[in-house]
Amino acid sequence: MENRVIDKCNIVDLPKITDPRGNLTFIEGQNHIPFDIRRVYYLYDVPGGAERGGHGHKELHQLIIAMSGSFDIHLDDGIEKKTIHMNRSHYGLYVCPMIWREIDNFSSGAVCMVLASDYYDEADYYRDYSQFVGDVRKGIVE
Ligand code: TYD
Repeated sequence: MENRVIDKCNIVDLPKITDPRGNLTFIEGQNHIPFDIRRVYYLYDVPGGAERGGHGHKELHQLIIAMSGSFDIHLDDGIEKKTIHMNRSHYGLYVCPMIWREIDNFSSGAVCMVLASDYYDEADYYRDYSQFVGDVRKGIVE
C-alpha cells in the first residue's frame, strides 16, 4: 500500500562534528526534525530483557536516539510493521503520531534519549493496542 503512516518514520542522520577531542552532534527543532522540542526524557539502567514503550501517541512527534549502547525499536502503524536497530549517537529515529512502538533488546549501559514535541500528557497515549488499531481503521474508513 502507498503512503503508509509508517513511511513517515525515518532515520535522521544528524550533523556530526568529528574532532580528535571527541565528536559533537547537535539537533535543532524544525531544522533537523519537523517539530519544536518541548520535552526531553531518557531511559537508562534498563535491565537485560526489559521492554519499554508498548504504546502509541495521538499527536506527539518524537525523535529517539541511542546515546549509548544499542536497542531495537519496533514500529507499527496498525497495518505495517518494521524494526530498526539503533546503535549510533548521530542517528535519530523520527516517530510521527499514530505509531505503536515497542523498544527492547537493550544492551548493557544503553541510554535511550527521546526528544518530544509536547509536554507529558497521558491523554495523548494509546495504552491499549486494540483501541489503537480500531482508531487507525476508523481513520481509514472516514
Ligand atoms: P511511559 O511513557 O509508559 O514509558 P516508556 O514508554 O518509556 O516505557 O512512561 C512511564 C511512566 O513515566 C508513566 O507513569 C508516565 C511517566 N512519565 C512522565 O511522568 N513523564 C514523561 O515525560 C514520560 C515519558 C513518562
